[in-house]
Amino acid sequence: MPVFDPEKLRADFPILSREVDGKALAYLDNGATSQKPQCVIDLVDHFYESGNANIHRGVHYLSRTATEAYESARETIKKALNTPDSQELIFVRGATEAINLVTNGLEEKLCEGDEIILTIMEHHANFVPWQVLAERKGLKLHFIGLNEDGSLDLDAWKAAFTSRTKVAAFTHISNVLGTINPVTEMTAFAHGQGALVLVDGAQALPHGPADLTEIGADFYVFSGHKVFAPDGIGVLAGSREILNSFRPYQSGGDMIDRVSTTGTTFRNAPGRFEAGTPNISGALGLAEAFRYLGEIDWLAAAKHEKKLAGLATGELESLGDVRFFGTTENKTAIISFLYDIAHPHDIATILDTEGVAVRDGHHCAQPLMDYLDVSATVRASFAFYNNESDVEAFARGMHKVKRFFG
Ligand SMILES: Cc1ncc(COP(=O)(O)O)c(C=O)c1O
Repeated sequence: MPVFDPEKLRADFPILSREVDGKALAYLDNGATSQKPQCVIDLVDHFYESGNANIHRGVHYLSRTATEAYESARETIKKALNTPDSQELIFVRGATEAINLVTNGLEEKLCEGDEIILTIMEHHANFVPWQVLAERKGLKLHFIGLNEDGSLDLDAWKAAFTSRTKVAAFTHISNVLGTINPVTEMTAFAHGQGALVLVDGAQALPHGPADLTEIGADFYVFSGHKVFAPDGIGVLAGSREILNSFRPYQSGGDMIDRVSTTGTTFRNAPGRFEAGTPNISGALGLAEAFRYLGEIDWLAAAKHEKKLAGLATGELESLGDVRFFGTTENKTAIISFLYDIAHPHDIATILDTEGVAVRDGHHCAQPLMDYLDVSATVRASFAFYNNESDVEAFARGMHKVKRFFG
């Protein structure tokens, strides 16, 4: 039975008990990357201490057990995400590589004049690869704007579909605004218009599991490091039929059926897209992170995160002169703001002197910054392991900003 005891969970993350220059760490940069629980750290350590071997190659004991562990990691993640039977799960470096794999595969299938619908809230990872593809193939990109509260203008999004629309790619949750997009409804609509759908789940999975069968997208991508797992591992969950029709993204060992001097035939997904030695320990760590997350009561966790974000928002409001970006009710615990008396970089620097880690800058979303007519914001992003002491440290830091610049 899943439970939620935030302080007990917090104790699973050793880094959260460290200090930064004599101040307790208040880690509010979870949108950039998450911290790792001891069980994930131990599992990766354990693999190198006693299980390390290359996979899919040797008949010896270590190679066999490493292969089994790697393939069973794939099954664990499939189960955690309720991946449809028709989907394959490919281990990649992260969301960025997953999207590049898809745009690379679609290159042969799209023709000049075909259209792709994006939203203005996309991270560069779900923006630039489409732009590069569009330039190469002469495609037309549509960028859909927002309502005042930072939610997607769904009417404009629906109206953008034409008979030439081939793909709709959109984020599940905005890394700047925290906006949660209605991805199931959007996927059904786009499919009704005959378009393929890619959902960028990088910011969604840290706040609770996604049911990929229910969402129904052709491609769902995410990065391990944002879901409490190691760096350099991520997932592309994609339609098996479409993936097997893609040319390989990279070629070399382990992705082939047969190689001869006259030509090479390739395996089907997932092997087709996992050329060379993959990030074996990363895949194992990712599966362990999903096992760990599977024991959390996510309804309670979401309530907890929302409460902390509400407290932090209240503290900011009490300062005056604070502008918020992304205020829709249907959002996750990400606060993007400007405090007009100080530059975001100065705010982040002063917060750091209180041990508070936040992000300042364009958050890899420059088109969104242009749209909002700002060059940068400060972003405080919460995870289930944050607590009220983190919010108090944040508030102390913001009052220091006020004293310094006010
Ligand atoms: C919404 C979103 N998509 C994609 C990415 C890219 O993730 P990665 O750098 O791990 O590939 C990020 C990273 O911040 C993100 O927030």
